[in-house]
Amino acid sequence: MGKALIIGAGGVASVAVHKCCQNSDVFEEICIASRTKAKCDALKEKLDGGKTRITTAKVDANNVEELVALINKEKPDVVLNLALPYQDLTIMDACLATKTNYVDTANYEPEDTAKFEYKWQWAYREKFEKAGITALLGSGFDPGVTGVFSAYAQKHYFDEIETLDILDCNAGDHGYPFATNFNPEINIREVTAKGSYFENGKVVETEPMAIKRVYNFPEIGPMDMYLLHHEEIESLALNLKGIKRIRFFMTFSQKYLNHLYCLQDVGMTSIVPIEYEGKMIVPLQFLKAVLPDPASLGPRTKGKTNIGCIFTGKKDGKERKYYVYNVCDHEACYKEVGSQAISYTTGVPAMIGAMMLMTGKWNKKGVHNIEEFDPDPFMEALNKFGLPWQESFYPELVD
Ligand SMILES: NC(=O)c1ccc[n+]([C@@H]2O[C@H](COP(=O)([O-])OP(=O)(O)OC[C@H]3O[C@@H](n4cnc5c(N)ncnc54)[C@H](OP(=O)(O)O)[C@@H]3O)[C@@H](O)[C@H]2O)c1
Repeated sequence: MGKALIIGAGGVASVAVHKCCQNSDVFEEICIASRTKAKCDALKEKLDGGKTRITTAKVDANNVEELVALINKEKPDVVLNLALPYQDLTIMDACLATKTNYVDTANYEPEDTAKFEYKWQWAYREKFEKAGITALLGSGFDPGVTGVFSAYAQKHYFDEIETLDILDCNAGDHGYPFATNFNPEINIREVTAKGSYFENGKVVETEPMAIKRVYNFPEIGPMDMYLLHHEEIESLALNLKGIKRIRFFMTFSQKYLNHLYCLQDVGMTSIVPIEYEGKMIVPLQFLKAVLPDPASLGPRTKGKTNIGCIFTGKKDGKERKYYVYNVCDHEACYKEVGSQAISYTTGVPAMIGAMMLMTGKWNKKGVHNIEEFDPDPFMEALNKFGLPWQESFYPELVD
């Protein structure tokens, strides 16, 4: 059917590349392009020889001219941005210049400020519409599948959704005292930021990790979880009609938090550059260099993830509750594609998002968050490509 240009060759990209190759009717051709070309070549070597034709390239995704030259050379139907959130705008600029569809999994974040919001990417709406192309924002798991779950609940089960709790549980154990499951810099910026939730039309800010709950996760059991600020809250507050409250909780073990607080207390999570032996370094980037590479956690991680959404609201005048979630097994993911479940649960929806645009199943021009599209074909694809979902109409609610 067509060709995708995948930018980035880290943990998430590796899964997306595997999944494109499993879906060669749609992805006849892919080009993997990243800063370190050797990583792209290693992926090609692993997967070459199947039906999907793979090429590789070196690109600095901070450089719009380089990106434009690459897109003009490769002529993809879609650019799948699996680099870092810092590169979202340069890649969107290059897509605009070449009139190419765009997909990502994380919203733009300036490198020097730990603040992510959609305003920078939403500012491209009119330009994308005029160019007759689509930018699909947030096609990972959260954001991503959580938005699709929300659109599905709204379409099939509710006249009005009143509350939404997004619960992200990782009960995996990699055996290291401290490691992050995806890019450590992005992950630590996210979890050390202030928490927030949406209530009655307003965003309420909390101190980091100030709100804790225990939830009994299906197939996992009781886990401590903490309220975080998360990017889909911003778009879902606009796209779920009549919504009164949205919260996002993520599980963390006490061991993880003890290490995190200690690193924070000594200044290792700071993004303010310091001088070290005559050179300016960012402590958090140095920390990333000494922590285990998330891509290396695959063979060591055991246990499951459970990520899903609990909705309350009304249907035909009656109160209704609905919980939809996916359970993913770290070891099964590793067996299938050589990655742990966090990369897997992001890489699969990234491939599906690109597929939705390439097949024309999603065809709305402009810049859109994932919940603005018809959820049904995406939900079907989740079942087909390794992230089957389960539902319950009598879930335990979070107080
Ligand atoms: N929505 C979700 O559910 C979700 C969940 C997890 C992660 N994510 C997002 O997924 C993305 C990828 O995460 P990951 O864990 O795969 O990260 P990763 O392992 O650190 O991979 C990032 C890749 O981007 C490349 N890159 C960085 N800067 C670049 C530049 N200027 N030009 C070209 N390539 C560049 C890196 O190249 P090098 O190899 O040279 O470093 C690396 O290959 C991130 O944006 C993350 O926030 C989303």
